[in-house]
Amino acid sequence: MTIKITGTGRALPEKTVTNFDMAKLVDTSDEWIRGRTGIAERRISTGDTVSSLAAKACAEALTMAGKDAEEVDLILVATCSPELLLPCCACQVQSAIGAHQAVAFDLNAACSGFLFALNTAYAYLQTGLYQNALIVGSEVLSKLIDWTDRSTCVLFGDGAGAAFIEKTEADEVCANGRTAGIEEMVMGSDGTKGMVLACAERTVSNPYFKETETIKPYVYMNGQEVYKFATRQVPACIKEALDKANLTVDDVDLFVLHQANVRIIESVAKRLKADIAKFPMNLDRIGNMSSATIPVLLDELNRDGKIKKGDRLVLSGFGAGLTYGASILVWG
Ligand code: UT7
Repeated sequence: MTIKITGTGRALPEKTVTNFDMAKLVDTSDEWIRGRTGIAERRISTGDTVSSLAAKACAEALTMAGKDAEEVDLILVATCSPELLLPCCACQVQSAIGAHQAVAFDLNAACSGFLFALNTAYAYLQTGLYQNALIVGSEVLSKLIDWTDRSTCVLFGDGAGAAFIEKTEADEVCANGRTAGIEEMVMGSDGTKGMVLACAERTVSNPYFKETETIKPYVYMNGQEVYKFATRQVPACIKEALDKANLTVDDVDLFVLHQANVRIIESVAKRLKADIAKFPMNLDRIGNMSSATIPVLLDELNRDGKIKKGDRLVLSGFGAGLTYGASILVWG
């Protein structure tokens, strides 16, 4: 059995906010943000919602795959910033694109969300339950951010990326001898460190109980703890996935990593002893969009012709939870 990504898409808000714009809002500078993170600008919603961005990205992915929305079996939206608690964003997307046959639900694993959704969809396709899936990472983080907190507001942006995956019954062997599909995956979670990157929703409040401790409903982050976690856990899980597949770093053509910080990506490359040229980046232009970073980068690479049939990709993410994961994929 082969799993192929046959279409990708992305949607970004039109408004670009530069580091110089950020310096008008909080006590920061282009030099600090660029030096510590690599980010120069980000896209910020002026009305786009998680579901509208997700639907646009999905429509693009379906067009590339040459599929009609009615043919979609499963829609998985990875998001930690939906506009509604009910219904889920995936159902909003199903309605917006007219994928009336699809089963649709959300999944929240923060910045690892797209990767977890890809692996979940893969498992469904493997069982034979579904033949295809639309998977999406979509976020409007700008509404979860305290715009007076310079330690977090400079980091994040809004956007969505999608991929359409399909199953074929026979194995598809590429010209370089590699079989298309997902070769290996590693996923992990460490809830004990959950509060190093957190954002509150509603506290318990009903006729019988009222929570007295109120937490602000904005992103809180201990940046250094997340940094340490990412630079240790990401290379470790990539290595574990490669070992399980009997592969080495040299067998990988591209490392498509969660785009949070250029220093984290450089540290991962160094720890793996991998050539940094194999780590494409776009965070300078669009910042950290949580679950949307990996699929948006994948779509950019795909549309720019930078991924060839038979290329071996490692997708890897980390984020709130804490969660992390790596998947090895041969492009079909
Ligand atoms: O998707 C997962 C998302 N999270 C991450 O990827 C976060 C990983 N962590 C990081 O990327 C880094 O920890 C940050 C970029 C968030 C921060 O860099 P840092 O080198 O860890 O800085 P720091 O938090 O240690 O702060 C150093 C200084 C502090 O000032 P003092 O106490 O040394 O005087 C901060 O108050 O920088 C100050 N600072 C700022 N200065 C200018 C914090 N934010 C800013 C800012 N502009 N925006």
